[in-house]
Amino acid sequence: MDSKSLPKIELHLHLDCSLRWKVVRRFDPAVTESFFEKNFKAPAKCLDLPDFLACAQQGIQYLQTADQLQAVTLDLLEQLKEEGVLYSEIRFAPYEHIRRGLSPEAVVEAVLTALEEGQHTSGIRAGLLLCTLRELPSGPSLHTAQLAVRYRDQGVVGFDIAGNEADFPVEPHVEAFRHARENGVPCIAHAGEARGAEGIWEVLRGYQVERLGHGVRCIEDERLVEYLVDRQIHLEVCPSSNIQTNVFDTIADHPVDRLFRAGISLGINTDSRTLTNTTLEREYDLLERQFGWGKKEFLQCNLQALEHAFLPEGEKDHFRAHLRQAYQ
Ligand code: ADE
Ligand code: ZN
Repeated sequence: MDSKSLPKIELHLHLDCSLRWKVVRRFDPAVTESFFEKNFKAPAKCLDLPDFLACAQQGIQYLQTADQLQAVTLDLLEQLKEEGVLYSEIRFAPYEHIRRGLSPEAVVEAVLTALEEGQHTSGIRAGLLLCTLRELPSGPSLHTAQLAVRYRDQGVVGFDIAGNEADFPVEPHVEAFRHARENGVPCIAHAGEARGAEGIWEVLRGYQVERLGHGVRCIEDERLVEYLVDRQIHLEVCPSSNIQTNVFDTIADHPVDRLFRAGISLGINTDSRTLTNTTLEREYDLLERQFGWGKKEFLQCNLQALEHAFLPEGEKDHFRAHLRQAYQ
């Protein structure tokens, strides 16, 4: 299967974890290619999720001005185009980008401006997801949800929580999710990655999300798998990221094929192109080699991702037709 040329939908990727050297060196010529390879990419096997997240700080320090945010956004759309992506939802946490004086509003506006321009030049359709982080206090978390409400219809399509699931609780962010939901902003949560099934139940109860970032450790609880199938809660699966954060030892241990066969709606994503040193093509090839997946499975994953995309229904039809035709 020539996975590179196939059209794709990608719903789970972090702007701040998808920097290319050719963009960073424009901000800081002292960053050589070998320094970039050693310091901007995380080790293939991290100790755990917090260890992996610490590596993301290297890139985040170069995303502190409007120019930097815009250059990286434009470059990411170029990367997506090279990988055959038709529609994508790109996420980031505004509060990670205020260290040199930008307000969270200015951060969002900078990225939205570049997203608008990049969609025109690349021909890719894309939306933004604003993330709060487990580590943030409830004030900034609620403010991030308010930003999602304020900028919806200007390119922001949803609200998410990322960060350290292992060590920080659900509760401080409940109000932020309530605010997003009550104002019609669709919600996602990273869960079932560093914690098991109980961590997923907690976000389902506390946040009432429509999709889960990862969610793959639902496999530990048969009742939860049934619940996710019944409620059609979509899993944004990021296989290599889960190996790297040590959720699973190797790809052979990854439950993606079992979850797919159990009837859970899921799609395939990179999570972090730079930190994980991957592309969608690599993720697809990994699943082809390990589980014998082919066009039938990838078509279904892409159709399911499209179904759960935060895109007006009327805009989905032509993507659906494009996918069906290409995966024949
Ligand atoms: N931010 C970037 N990658 C992440 C992940 N895999 N889990 C939680 N937060 C993240
Ligand atoms: Zn993620």
